[in-house]
Amino acid sequence: MQGEGVGTTITQHILSQQRKNPKATGAFTTLLNELVVAAKVISREANKAGLVDILGATGKINVQDEQVQKLDMFANQVIIQRMQHIGQLWCMGSEEDPDLIEIPPQYPKGDYILLFDPLDGSSNIDVNVSIGTIFGIYKRRTDSREAEILLSDVLQPGIKQMAAGYFIYGSSTIMVYTTGNETGVHGFTLFPSVGEFLLSHEDIRIPERGKIYSVNEGNYQYWDEKTRALVDYFKTRDKETGRPYTSRYVGSLVADFHRNLLKGGIFMYPADKKDPKKPSGKLRLMVEANPLAMVVKEAGGYASNGHGPILEIDPGTLHQRVPLYIGSKKDVDLAEAVISGKKKLD
Ligand code: AHG
Ligand code: MN
Ligand code: MN
Repeated sequence: MQGEGVGTTITQHILSQQRKNPKATGAFTTLLNELVVAAKVISREANKAGLVDILGATGKINVQDEQVQKLDMFANQVIIQRMQHIGQLWCMGSEEDPDLIEIPPQYPKGDYILLFDPLDGSSNIDVNVSIGTIFGIYKRRTDSREAEILLSDVLQPGIKQMAAGYFIYGSSTIMVYTTGNETGVHGFTLFPSVGEFLLSHEDIRIPERGKIYSVNEGNYQYWDEKTRALVDYFKTRDKETGRPYTSRYVGSLVADFHRNLLKGGIFMYPADKKDPKKPSGKLRLMVEANPLAMVVKEAGGYASNGHGPILEIDPGTLHQRVPLYIGSKKDVDLAEAVISGKKKLD
């Protein structure tokens, strides 16, 4: 499917996916296309970071009890403002907002719910390391047109996502997304000269076993024995299983995830005792783990909280945190067997 020599644009691709998926409607295509526009705006600012006053902390602390960076807020506002007027959303949920984001009364509402991490890897913004945006799209559960937005409408297991994906603002800006139903995972690179995302990674498949492990080893003392044994396993020499694995950790989930998706490997953010308020580790189920769990599953990988599939977790709260083991199926299966106690590493 070639355009005028520029290759397949994201718009063409989304339309072709829509034709393949009887459940996807034009509404869905509008939604994704508008999200792409928001990402282009964020990408432009992220690439200017350092040149304009978009850097540094706002001095605010968000609902995650974390320093809010200016680019966090900018990205959050861009997505909300772009997405709220398209008439396809019932509501939105952002990592940066404590409560659900309602659609202003002057705009029509639709049936989709957008959950997102507007800027992932905030600690890397002012050191020029790749950052990104993560998103998951659900259909609202009840089809009655009752007035108020129900959190129960939004807190659905990740398996219910209609689509999920991410943008990475790095050496180039790329978008990776899937609409599930075995339609595959596809990557697009932004060509600034054309101003379009063009298909660059068709039908991404993650190797079933990797050679990379990604974890913040600075938390070693805060992990339990099983977690330590698991991480030590990946570092131990064993010819047969290609160990020791290489350690790669950028500190931006999207960047670590994307590298492992393309090359194979496992990313871990285990439960830790570092912060009593966050016993399940730092990553959020609804705006980080679920979207990436859908992407990796569609690419042949797996995502677990150490005891079972991320995608089958029944969410309790909008900002619920979960331990995350995600990447190559064989590596994550092993992680789940060790963390759940089914397998003991000698
Ligand atoms: P966010 O910037 O959206 O808060 O996410 C940051 C997350 C994730 O991107 C990354 O994997 C993790 O924080 C790194 O945490 P540590 O610095 O604790 O390793
Ligand atoms: Mn994040
Ligand atoms: Mn974030």
